[in-house]
Amino acid sequence: MKNFYIKPKIEFGENSLNFLKNNVNGKVFIVTDKSMVTLKLVDKITELLPKNSLVKIFDEVTPNPTTDVVEKGLKELVLFNPDVVIALGGGSPIDACKGMLYFGRKLKITLNNKLFIAIPTTSGTGSEVTSYSVITEGNKKIALANEEMLPDIAILNPEFMKTLPKKIIADTGMDVFTHALEAYVSKVANPFTDAMALESLKLLNKNLVKHYNNAQDLEPRKNVQFASCLAGVAFNNSSLGINHSIAHTIGAKFHLSHGRANAILLPYIIKINENANERYEVLAKELNLEGKESFVKYIENLKVTLGIEKSLSELNIDFQEFQNLIPEMLSEIKADICTEFNPNILTDEEYIKLLLKIYFGNL
Ligand SMILES: NC(=O)c1ccc[n+]([C@@H]2O[C@H](COP(=O)([O-])OP(=O)(O)OC[C@H]3O[C@@H](n4cnc5c(N)ncnc54)[C@H](O)[C@@H]3O)[C@@H](O)[C@H]2O)c1
Ligand SMILES: [Fe+2]
Repeated sequence: MKNFYIKPKIEFGENSLNFLKNNVNGKVFIVTDKSMVTLKLVDKITELLPKNSLVKIFDEVTPNPTTDVVEKGLKELVLFNPDVVIALGGGSPIDACKGMLYFGRKLKITLNNKLFIAIPTTSGTGSEVTSYSVITEGNKKIALANEEMLPDIAILNPEFMKTLPKKIIADTGMDVFTHALEAYVSKVANPFTDAMALESLKLLNKNLVKHYNNAQDLEPRKNVQFASCLAGVAFNNSSLGINHSIAHTIGAKFHLSHGRANAILLPYIIKINENANERYEVLAKELNLEGKESFVKYIENLKVTLGIEKSLSELNIDFQEFQNLIPEMLSEIKADICTEFNPNILTDEEYIKLLLKIYFGNL
């Protein structure tokens, strides 16, 4: 049976935080990271909550959140027993919060149904509208998927993205690009996901570099946020592909940010996905480019503009270490939940060749 699932309710725009003023009561548990506290972005939430609400902030989430962080947060969440849970931050706090709620329910240790609100501060993982949560255990990233992890409310407020450093705009923006692209060429793409993925790519095409150059400029900032959320809804329904499977694997092993890992891989993955050639051609035309080849060139140029490396060797990853990890990487890539929906299914030999190309930068 095929379906297209849309949740949560999305509050958006400059006044969207007012939702908190009118709809949040009782005990509020906020899952976030230290930068959100330092940058006073958490204050934008707490100052809107009713005076009599009891607030507890768990700010120990780290980038690429681990099972330890989820466990620690879950303990605090259970002890506090809130009515409302708010995840504030990039994909890391939102995913960690989803993990806490998921395991709390699974282990039957959270007591009541909680209103779950996700407020992204990056554009972004789209995690505010997806049923995915990516958690790191040791040197492995595990992508969990369960509809129970979908937030009830997503608040898109472009105000939060003013403080983003350039490098994070580049990484997270290219994550959005990868979501939209993989959703569009996925084996289970459909007209609903196509519409959202395509609009996301068009918005990125017009706005990502502008947003990168000036995070204070509202229009591009707002449009990249829309692109992020659109791509999230698209890939939540069509899944992703091996760009993400490989990014999960190398990201966890070599401590790369998720978006950067995706961005480095993009041109190599597009080239190898020959079963999707027609779809890449359509996309290229939509962006006023000639065809697949010029689409790859366009991405390469975009990466240069955003200061993103061409290969893993440029990141000073030791080749011997990389080579030794190939068997382990291979089994993780094949087991990743995103692999199944990639247009091409690769043999082990093809994967190894691909990994070496990505390492040395032989496109
Ligand atoms: N659940 C999903 O659907 C999904 C999809 C893609 C990626 N992910 C996962 O999400 C995580 C990555 O999330 P991310 O890329 O949003 O980054 P992140 O949440 O790890 O944040 C990266 C850094 O940016 C800082 N930051 C965030 N917002 C800021 C702001 N407004 N101003 C200044 N600094 C800010 C954070 O404090 C952190 O130091 C990875 O673990 C990845 O695997 C999840
Ligand atoms: Fe992603």
